[in-house]
Amino acid sequence: MKRLAILVSGRGSNFEAIARAIREGRLDARISLVLSNRADAKALETAASFGLPHHCLPSQGVATDEWARQAVDLLTPLDIDLICLAGFMRRVGQPLLDAFAGRILNIHPSLLPAFPGLDVQQQALDYGVKFSGCTVHFVDAGLDTGPIVAQASVPVLDSDTAQTLAARILVEEHRIYYQAIALVLSGRYRIEGRRVRPA
Ligand code: GRF
Repeated sequence: MKRLAILVSGRGSNFEAIARAIREGRLDARISLVLSNRADAKALETAASFGLPHHCLPSQGVATDEWARQAVDLLTPLDIDLICLAGFMRRVGQPLLDAFAGRILNIHPSLLPAFPGLDVQQQALDYGVKFSGCTVHFVDAGLDTGPIVAQASVPVLDSDTAQTLAARILVEEHRIYYQAIALVLSGRYRIEGRRVRPA
């Protein structure tokens, strides 16, 4: 069975959606480790309640690449097939990118390449777009720039706040992330330029 590591920093609803998909037989995989860079991440409690291995590697005051080296040391013996960033609020660092080249996914709450970075629901509102959504993409050295595996769109309503828009997008995040993970784990895709296509 394919092995996942989930990297989290906070609430962990995307992690929980993945864990539920596995538990309910919608995703054939095992979560070998939930790794947080923050001790106060709610995702760690959720991992415990699911009986999943979890660990905190604090990142405060630790350089990005040093944290990444520590993470590689933890993950390498676990024989991880795919790393899934799920609300991981840090750059992953070159040592992780090197050790898991082409095997790191992220979910981002906008239709990339629109609105990379932080506070993206507010950015979408401020820009005045009529649709936003979410994107699952491979992680490369850029900020939210890797090849796109899956996207889903939602309407932006006149009455939206950043919170209501985020909630509408989150429903779609939970729906598409585990499906994108299943595709990548199946290996039935190829990357041509930036395009991820069925193989
Ligand atoms: C999600 O909106 C995700 O797209 C973004 O950070 C948020 C994390 O939420 N990267 P959660 O921790 O998965 O609930």
